[in-house]
Amino acid sequence: MASSISVQDLTKVYDLGEIQVRALRGVTVDIAAGEFVAVIGPSGSGKSTFMHILGCLDRPTQGRYLLDGHDVSTLSRNALADVRNKKIGFVFQGFNLLSRTTALDNVELPLLYNGNGMRGKERRRRAHDALNGVGLSDRAGHHPNQLSGGQQQRVAIARALINQPSILLADEPTGNLDSRTSVEVMGIFQKLNTERGITVLLITHEREIAEYGTRIITFRDGKIVSDKPNTVRRMAADEFAALPLDTDSDADSSVPAASTSVGALDLDLDLT
Ligand SMILES: Nc1ncnc2c1ncn2[C@@H]1O[C@H](COP(=O)(O)OP(=O)(O)O)[C@@H](O)[C@H]1O
Ligand SMILES: [Mg+2]
Repeated sequence: MASSISVQDLTKVYDLGEIQVRALRGVTVDIAAGEFVAVIGPSGSGKSTFMHILGCLDRPTQGRYLLDGHDVSTLSRNALADVRNKKIGFVFQGFNLLSRTTALDNVELPLLYNGNGMRGKERRRRAHDALNGVGLSDRAGHHPNQLSGGQQQRVAIARALINQPSILLADEPTGNLDSRTSVEVMGIFQKLNTERGITVLLITHEREIAEYGTRIITFRDGKIVSDKPNTVRRMAADEFAALPLDTDSDADSSVPAASTSVGALDLDLDLT
């Protein structure tokens, strides 16, 4: 259940009264179902604006956005929210977890908002499965401040997956992570992409992170200035396996590093 994206001449102007910020200046691109696209570019080049529109968090000022062949550029806010809840998972740089809420409750949260009428017990089961899928079943009752950065990002990934989205949008997901943990998180994305066929759009300003994608799109000044297949793709699982075992760890402190890493990279992808 992958999703395809087609945008034509997308523009976005933020109207601040006195000034108008032209964040996107005519972006045209097609992304096929099941691609893993990295979007790269300097700060202020429009990457996040692009992601917000693709993620149905915002609407373009002009231009067309076809998601799985349906024009979503003119939908009402409510209709957009529906599409978003059904199809799209988000991962952010700052994890965006609720701090006074357990890992399990954070993961379960989107199920409360998607109008599925799912019963509490079923929601719990799914949230447990999703946490298990990112190797964190033993952290279900922990609050975010009791988890490392990498663990928090894995909770956020589990939350993004809870509605079984067909697109995963990640905005600088490794921006707050050390390099080892970044490889681990990229491993999860690559696995979701290859094994579950989820379309992945990864925003980063780091070239090395973009190289985990199969295609690299470069933004500058609100436009795409380059769009190329990535011929030197990095494979996170291989890299991770070759890394020395981590003892002091962003990974888990209480279980051996080896079992943690296997847990995270050896995703149990069956969330149904
Ligand atoms: N909500 C907003 N209101 C006004 N200007 C914004 C808003 N969001 C982004 N911008 C401006 O739009 C431009 C593109 O920003 P952004 O999409 O965040 O770029 P990037 O993610 O590449 O750093 C920048 O000039 C930024 O200041
Ligand atoms: Mg940004």
